[in-house]
Amino acid sequence: MSLSLDAPAQDAPAVADDDVWLECIACGAQFAPFDAVRFTCNDCDGLLEVRYADPPTFADFEGEGVWRYAAALPFEEGEARSASDGAAGGGGAWYSLPEGDTPLHEVPRLSEDLGVNRLRIKHEGMNPTGSFKDRGMTVGVRVARELGVGRLACASTGNTSAALAAYGARAGMETLVLLPAGKVAAGKVAQASLHDARILEVDGNFDACLDIVQDLAARGEVYLLNSLNPFRLEGQKTIGFEILEEFREDYGRLPDRIVLPVGNAGNTAALYKAFRELVAAGAMDADEVPALTGVQAAGAAPMVEAIENGADEVRRWESVETRATAIRIGNPVNAPKALPGIRATGGTAVAVDDEAITEAQRDLAREGVGVEPASAASVAGLRKLREAGRVDADEDVVCLTTGHLLKDPDAAYEAGGDPEPVDNSTEAVLEHIGAK
Ligand code: F0G
Repeated sequence: MSLSLDAPAQDAPAVADDDVWLECIACGAQFAPFDAVRFTCNDCDGLLEVRYADPPTFADFEGEGVWRYAAALPFEEGEARSASDGAAGGGGAWYSLPEGDTPLHEVPRLSEDLGVNRLRIKHEGMNPTGSFKDRGMTVGVRVARELGVGRLACASTGNTSAALAAYGARAGMETLVLLPAGKVAAGKVAQASLHDARILEVDGNFDACLDIVQDLAARGEVYLLNSLNPFRLEGQKTIGFEILEEFREDYGRLPDRIVLPVGNAGNTAALYKAFRELVAAGAMDADEVPALTGVQAAGAAPMVEAIENGADEVRRWESVETRATAIRIGNPVNAPKALPGIRATGGTAVAVDDEAITEAQRDLAREGVGVEPASAASVAGLRKLREAGRVDADEDVVCLTTGHLLKDPDAAYEAGGDPEPVDNSTEAVLEHIGAK
């Protein structure tokens, strides 16, 4: 496997006298990180990325959770890494619930069943609001306070809205979420509602909601906290750091492959960035980087299409459908960051149908790991790739499960067994279970 990993620029740019800046991945334009609100490049509208003069090494990491990785984030644990520090004000970690430090479960039976050397499940559903989104929000909402913006907003298939509502509440800021009507799992709407976000249900899919939020942001009405926001992806990088640190501690080596569900491809982009930064810092070799392997639902698989066709751009699917509503997305906005990541790491992308997703949800549940459907797509994808011989039997694999079972109670009921009515007596129970 040959890897060509683009190292981040090592020299601090002229635009910022700081050690952190924003850089356009398309044209290379650079901007100071906190001087203005911007989500894409002022010059060419390309995606922005946070860059550091000194990429981190493992030795720089100390403490717990997401903020253990402050050396790889645009903020120190206590304050901004910029001269404009202070806008956030207030003491204490108001921005942290805390997030990260999620389990890397061993699943020996499933590992044997799938036929890989080792399989571990990184269960991001164990974050404070039940999904990986919290890692991005603790950083993103802090930036929002740093910039002094008024109203926070996101489009969401559910989990982003739950996380933004919670972190917005924590920051004492007004929060607006746009959801595709009738297509968001019950647990997620309940969270956004109780954390007091204003919920707007749009007659359209997620991609339409995101178009509107981008318009609102361009008009200066809201601060956008979708994964188009480069600061959110900084927080999500920490998933990669945690996996590498823990895997190496347990086995003295790094995993060969990381399999993850793909919607907007934010996590794929974030993991790739984490690895690039470690390689640039000399903390790991390019040939140690795990193969990033994306999984989409067959009814919403534009990234898979692009990988299969060797295309440089992803075609927007106008019509998408899947039981895994979290990844019911036809226009993966982070594709320009994620496609090169999949390719450079020697990974791939695969589509799985809804039945396979539900079966994988049951597989994980039998190991005691409760996840929502989109999360189970990672395991369904690994099974499909193993069966096709596209993943080798000697590989060490980590599957990312992105959201908790309770996010989507309806899907869990459908996947699980039915309750059995029984008369109100011990005798009746014994008889019913065949114990006498
Ligand atoms: N898994 C879950 C449970 C998600 O909620 C999402 C995205 C993904 C996977 C895909 O991650 O976008 O980084 O590729 N959910 C967003 C939301 C879109 O609004 O909650 P990605």
